[in-house]
Amino acid sequence: MPTLGVNIDHVATVRQARQTDEPDPVWAAVEAQLGGAACITFHLREDRRHIVDRDVPLLKEVVNVRLNMEMAIAPDVVDIACRTRPHQCCIVPEKREEVTTEGGLDVVRLGDRLQGVVSRLRDAGSVVSAFIEPDPAQIDASAAAGFQTVELWTGGYAHAADDESRQGAVLKLIEAVRHAHAAGLTVHGGHGLTYRNVGPVAAIAGFEEFNIGHSIMARAMFVGIRSAVREMDQLLRQHAPKE
Ligand code: PXP
Repeated sequence: MPTLGVNIDHVATVRQARQTDEPDPVWAAVEAQLGGAACITFHLREDRRHIVDRDVPLLKEVVNVRLNMEMAIAPDVVDIACRTRPHQCCIVPEKREEVTTEGGLDVVRLGDRLQGVVSRLRDAGSVVSAFIEPDPAQIDASAAAGFQTVELWTGGYAHAADDESRQGAVLKLIEAVRHAHAAGLTVHGGHGLTYRNVGPVAAIAGFEEFNIGHSIMARAMFVGIRSAVREMDQLLRQHAPKE
């Protein structure tokens, strides 16, 4: 049964829109846990556009489920991760001009640069994950660089223009999960998953966690975070492959 990781960055985005202290993403993390989240995910970006340094130790303190820190390999962010020692660090590509993480990390190209960061984070006690496209070469490079987990980018599925390409994207994910398991990696997934489209991806065997942010926080505006998280968690359970 895959578990649900809830990304709380959007709450911090609303706060930063007014450079004030509400709404508090730390409070959102508590609400998400009360709704059944198995993991709280946040992204400390280099430009601190949503989550800021003040949030990180507070999240570490209030999160009693797994805490997943998304991050680029910027030295100051790596230092914060090593001090914080979240349960998991997920390395993502980061571009200042992007609205959100737009695709997977190019582990094939970055291999050597990643190895040192991965071993520092592992030595600090975190599980280290690579956010990559469902591509065998990226999976092999992730295993070689010392990652223990890969989070497969589900954007190819979520953004597919028609049924045929959506089906193709599902098959690509199925293959990638198999390939990652054969390489000894744990498999997570995320990006662009919504209440409407999550079913076929949740039904793929072998995913241990899905990280979902935008759709949950969009619904939370109307029904509250607890209910929004509970509904998504129920969908994952409903569609989970029979064990
Ligand atoms: N996983 C990773 C690594 C991400 O960067 C994001 C986006 O912040 C997500 C999952 C969640 O994506 P979404 O907000 O589209 O659900």
